[in-house]
Amino acid sequence: MTHPANTTPMDREAALQHCFSPATLNGVTLKNRLIKAGTFENMTPGGRPSQRLEDFHCRLADGGVAMTNIGYCAVTGDGRLNENMMYMHEGIRGELSSLIDKLHERDCKVSGQMGHCGGFSKNRELKRKRPLGPNFAVNGLGVGCGMFFADGMTHADIDEMVAQYRDAAGFMKSVGFDSLEIHFGHGYGLCQFISPKTNKRKDEYGGSLENRMRLPLRVLAAVREAVGDDYPITGKISMTEGVRGGISYDDSVEISKLLDKGGIDAIVCSGGTSTMNPMIMFRGDNMLQPMLDNEKSWIMRSILRLAGKSLFRDYPYEDLYFLDQAKRIREAVQCQTIYIGGANGNDNFAELMQAGFDFVQIGRSLLSDPDLPNRSAADIGYRSRCLHCNECVGTIESPQGIHCTRFSL
Ligand SMILES: Cc1cc2nc3c(=O)[nH]c(=O)nc-3n(C[C@H](O)[C@H](O)[C@H](O)COP(=O)(O)O)c2cc1C
Ligand code: SF4
Repeated sequence: MTHPANTTPMDREAALQHCFSPATLNGVTLKNRLIKAGTFENMTPGGRPSQRLEDFHCRLADGGVAMTNIGYCAVTGDGRLNENMMYMHEGIRGELSSLIDKLHERDCKVSGQMGHCGGFSKNRELKRKRPLGPNFAVNGLGVGCGMFFADGMTHADIDEMVAQYRDAAGFMKSVGFDSLEIHFGHGYGLCQFISPKTNKRKDEYGGSLENRMRLPLRVLAAVREAVGDDYPITGKISMTEGVRGGISYDDSVEISKLLDKGGIDAIVCSGGTSTMNPMIMFRGDNMLQPMLDNEKSWIMRSILRLAGKSLFRDYPYEDLYFLDQAKRIREAVQCQTIYIGGANGNDNFAELMQAGFDFVQIGRSLLSDPDLPNRSAADIGYRSRCLHCNECVGTIESPQGIHCTRFSL
């Protein structure tokens, strides 16, 4: 299969010109091809968008990114990992639409990451007794606050979750988001269904890949129904979970084909799981120590001390660490593809454009250097100063919200 982007080979200069020119994502024009990756900001105390969240995204917009992503917009209250995450409901319409307006005034588009934690939660405001996953399981995240287990979802629970995605999508479009990103990866709710490691169901939602994709594809169809055909929906997947018996690189090609057939506009080719193997998602310095330094629960600290070395494995950093696998996805689908993982500057952007990716998502390099897009557009040799020390990941529960610990902005 020849992807349209593959038909005209580009030299480096042309590739960079391509990167810094406007591009379209299902009818929405982005001023360049650089998108801020979803990073749960922890700037929504009590579940409400704060001034800090607005300042954070406005700073990124001023740095020239074409679209910023507001991380972890839970589709329902019980879909939150903790009670300081936002969930999509009328009570936050005013703050959310005002934030989005400010970003639009800065010529920055806004995407929202639609998430549901499934059976992995420490949300003290959980309405149910236990979080819900594909089946009864240990709730690794909840152990520190006495929420030891997750229950399995009934068919009625599955229907309810589909409806929650549909309602949240309608709300998010109406509030002003330009695009929605469904989280199919990183070990969260939908990923728990896709993964043979976590999905042990015996009904039509478990077993074969086709069955394990049934709920994610129903969610995609429901979100599409809510937003219409001419509105961008992207999906972030884990190309591998990095654990034996979990999603493999080969599986992810098939997963992507199914999402493509299901009508997704673009696939974000990520990897790893927050629950079982987070380091494969990030690479670089091991984040066990930063996580220990920031963990408030003594039970979780003890667990991390005991199990941390097997959970946080060492993966040395290299630029574009998902490139080879992401290329396989790009070759396999007709929809657009978005590269993520270790893109730091013009050398990387040029290589990604030459490889035919439509957009590039950037996480840490923008946290350390929000001006990266503008600086890269002005200086062909520019590269972000991010050290991939991963200390920012440890700040995910900091009262200040996430931030780069090495460089002040
Ligand atoms: C502080 C922090 C928080 C993150 N939170 C999320 C999140 O909420 N959802 C998500 O899909 N990925 C999250 N990520 C992962 C990033 O989206 C991205 O996959 C990862 O940082 C690798 O890309 P990079 O090399 O450009 O940083 C987070 C990353 C960081 C550094
Ligand atoms: S703390 Fe700063 S330098 Fe270190 S990985 Fe995060 S953004 Fe990069």
